[in-house]
Amino acid sequence: MNEMTAVSTPVLPDAQTVTEVRHWTDRLFSFRLTRPASLRFRSGEFVMIGLMGENGRPLLRAYSIASPSWDEALEFYSIKVPDGPLTSRLQNIKPGDQVILRPKPVGTLVLDALTPGKRLFLVATGTGIAPFASLVRDPDIYERYDEVILTHTCRDVADLAYGQSLVTDLMMDPLVGEEAASKLRYIPTTTREASSKMGRITDLLRKNALGVPPLAADDRVMICGSIGLNRDMKQICEAAGLVEGSNSAPGGFVVEKAFVG
Ligand code: A2P
Repeated sequence: MNEMTAVSTPVLPDAQTVTEVRHWTDRLFSFRLTRPASLRFRSGEFVMIGLMGENGRPLLRAYSIASPSWDEALEFYSIKVPDGPLTSRLQNIKPGDQVILRPKPVGTLVLDALTPGKRLFLVATGTGIAPFASLVRDPDIYERYDEVILTHTCRDVADLAYGQSLVTDLMMDPLVGEEAASKLRYIPTTTREASSKMGRITDLLRKNALGVPPLAADDRVMICGSIGLNRDMKQICEAAGLVEGSNSAPGGFVVEKAFVG
């Protein structure tokens, strides 16, 4: 036995170290992990992350990367499901802990899956804002679009905190702050608790009550939320004359379900 093996402790496969954890509500938290030097991804993509299961096999779920592709760390935003196999444990992580991260980013919420357009709508419910937290911090988005409209619908006002903090910080960001201040419009809405704008984003779009010109064929849309939101938004996009896009065939809108751990 050489000296190296004598002192080494067991290391998880693809392990990354937790550097920061922030609890936004009793149901929502975000965390940052070290980024493998070799990991390249496009803003908006997701990876599989998780913990070692009690059976000694990794317990992994898909998580959108919430940090932009230029960031030195990786950020994630998660719900806490009390009896969820992964999130019931993941919510207890602390800086210094290890999390498994499979370094194979994929996904359709990427700028390359859309054909050029004027405005870009980013439509999220709940933790579906995570991929958009990556995209709105990426300078590319402001090069491609005249206006970026980020909508976030949650049940209660407290559930909006992560998005609100993201947008506030973004305006002071040395890299994209100036562009974001002139091109990003953030529209948070709540459905159960009173706030300055209430209602499902789908209803607000249908009633043309968002305070922006209605969705048109030269707009582009990214959708990330519950199955119901994805289905209803798809219908709204198609009614506006948009065709669904993908990595291999870019189009007018793209959809990805929000992952709940
Ligand atoms: P609502 O309160 O009217 O159900 P959840 O917490 O269930 O994941 O929902 C997150 C947010 O997404 C809630 O504000 C919820 O509104 C909204 N939502 C759920 N289904 C849809 C849908 N089909 N279209 C638009 N918004 C939706």
